[in-house]
Amino acid sequence: MKILVINGPNLNMLGKREPGIYGSQSLKDLENGIMEASEKLGVEIKCFQSNYEGALLDEIHQAADNGFEGIIMNPGAFTHYSIALRDAISSIDLPVIEVHISNVHAREEFRKHSVTAPVSIGQISGFGFYGYEMALHAMKEYLKGREV
Ligand code: DQA
Repeated sequence: MKILVINGPNLNMLGKREPGIYGSQSLKDLENGIMEASEKLGVEIKCFQSNYEGALLDEIHQAADNGFEGIIMNPGAFTHYSIALRDAISSIDLPVIEVHISNVHAREEFRKHSVTAPVSIGQISGFGFYGYEMALHAMKEYLKGREV
């Protein structure tokens, strides 16, 4: 089972960026933690981060051809307005789980709306870095349920 983990814009700034909201650990720390969790679960993963919408779209379009069965994605601010990202998710056959480090529903009004969540199988928000591990468990169960 191969799962793609995508982090969108500004998530390369983790550790430096608003530590009161996103914590003091870096993207590398996050990816190392996800890697460790995936090994325990027996799932193969690749982590990808970009600040560019087009690079995220390309990665999503190619995911199935690259052998991935599901995508865990934190689209960052694109969550709230990128119809292109939403259309990319709709255009592929893979399940996507949306993750947010912070609780987007407890922050500014504009963060409560996600254009990508309705085309994802679910959203995890507010559990810090652990949300990605939760998503890995959820994706594994989801994919197992789809096996024939
Ligand atoms: C975020 C929440 C978004 O509103 C914000 O723009 C981010 C990070 C989160 O992980 O909590 O960049 O996706």
